[in-house]
Amino acid sequence: MVISTAVSPDVSKVFASTPQFTRPTFLMCPPEWYGVDYVLNPWMAGNVHRSSRDLAFAQWKSMHNVLRSVADVRLLRPEPGCPDMVFLAHGALIHHGVAAISSFNPQQRRAETAHLRRWLISEGFLLWETPRETPFEGEGDVAFNEEGTALWAAHGVRTCRAAHRHLADAWQVPITSLHLSDPRFYHLDTCFTPLANPTGAGGGYILYYPGAFDAASIAAIESAYPADHRFAVSELDATHMACCALNLGRTIFTGEITRELATRLFDAGFDVVQLELSEFIKGGGGAKSLALRLSDMPITHGRLGQLAVS
Ligand code: ARG
Repeated sequence: MVISTAVSPDVSKVFASTPQFTRPTFLMCPPEWYGVDYVLNPWMAGNVHRSSRDLAFAQWKSMHNVLRSVADVRLLRPEPGCPDMVFLAHGALIHHGVAAISSFNPQQRRAETAHLRRWLISEGFLLWETPRETPFEGEGDVAFNEEGTALWAAHGVRTCRAAHRHLADAWQVPITSLHLSDPRFYHLDTCFTPLANPTGAGGGYILYYPGAFDAASIAAIESAYPADHRFAVSELDATHMACCALNLGRTIFTGEITRELATRLFDAGFDVVQLELSEFIKGGGGAKSLALRLSDMPITHGRLGQLAVS
């Protein structure tokens, strides 16, 4: 079923029929056709045809293996002609079984949508379609807070600000718009990831690179997270995609980060799993962009039980 973009759903009725997950659950897409075949962001410039598919596959496989030890991971079949499909998190944003499906800004990524849409419909998700005129790039640019009660959304590069209201309407939640001001951090997930409280108590954390935002956006972030709940990362860590981190409870999957940042996260109670993701950084992506979250935030953060990487 596709919800018309013109009508707000009766949320309680709509959500009752959608898939519910009782364990952290993600969807990944193997990098069978992955390659840096064109330039959509500054990371791809200089890397066209310079990524190794074999190495990409090995790196993807290790992330898949480690993620599978703490979550259910479903797979979407990769499609030829979609070299960026491995960055599946940009295809949609999901909550309560409703999938706000992306309307990709770059023409090169638009073919991905039909494949993801087909899978979501076959699994019983309700689709919240985004009008073509207002680009929106899924988890790439929009993130739920750690509780799943409010949204952060970026604009300025890929996602258009006018799409933000449309997304807030999908779940009737408040939304805060952030403006991206550094072309290297062209998606919100390259510079901003809400983190759970590792103790399981309320009050999440934020992992972010302040240099990627304008002053008003920084003020909004700082008013939502007290200083001792903010991990502002250095430019060095940011350019290694440290903020493109996948968080499940107290576990954080990210790329290779500095000892200083790893220590700060560890001291706050997080377990950090560092992954080698060099081939995906050439395409402009990190750990978080390789897995589309299907379970709601509290489930993803293991509120029904403590997660541990074995
Ligand atoms: N090549 C992809 C694109 O530019 C990379 C996406 C990865 N991006 C990210 N935000 N983590 O669309």
